[in-house]
Amino acid sequence: MAVLDLRYYGDPVLRQIAAPIENIDDKLARFAEDLIETMLVKNGIGLAANQVGKAIRIYAVDPSGDDEGEKPFVLINPVIIETSGEQNGDEGCLSFPGLFEKLTRPQRVLVEAIDIDGNPIRLEREGLIARVILHEYDHLEGKLFIDYLSFLRRQLINGKLRKLKAGDIEVFR
Ligand code: NI
Repeated sequence: MAVLDLRYYGDPVLRQIAAPIENIDDKLARFAEDLIETMLVKNGIGLAANQVGKAIRIYAVDPSGDDEGEKPFVLINPVIIETSGEQNGDEGCLSFPGLFEKLTRPQRVLVEAIDIDGNPIRLEREGLIARVILHEYDHLEGKLFIDYLSFLRRQLINGKLRKLKAGDIEVFR
């Protein structure tokens, strides 16, 4: 397993729409392991392939903080089937080190995807893990959590965002 290099805000790959995955082979299985490893080493609870420079439809989720005993997993070609309710909370992203913003998301999500063994899966999650599933799904669509911020909030952090874009990854710390 290997820790992959993270891509930060300003990298065009974060705005790419990720391509569907057609083959679930050994190469993809290794990439999935690396994605999980990178997420854990960087203390993230989710990590999308775009964030390590590959615009393909896979992301890692670490549910261990929420559901005891559940191991980190990947979702391949996920489709959001349904969302409901509302939750408010702080949200961050490994591509924006140190930036946390209050964000409203649905409380519950139903997602269908393929697992790393090639089997179709259907997951229903609430709370924090629902938030992660939706945040990471956005990455596959080239969408970032700062896109949800109010105009005013965006204006307030714009200077720092520009520095992050210019390569200062410590700007929010
Ligand atoms: Ni993110």
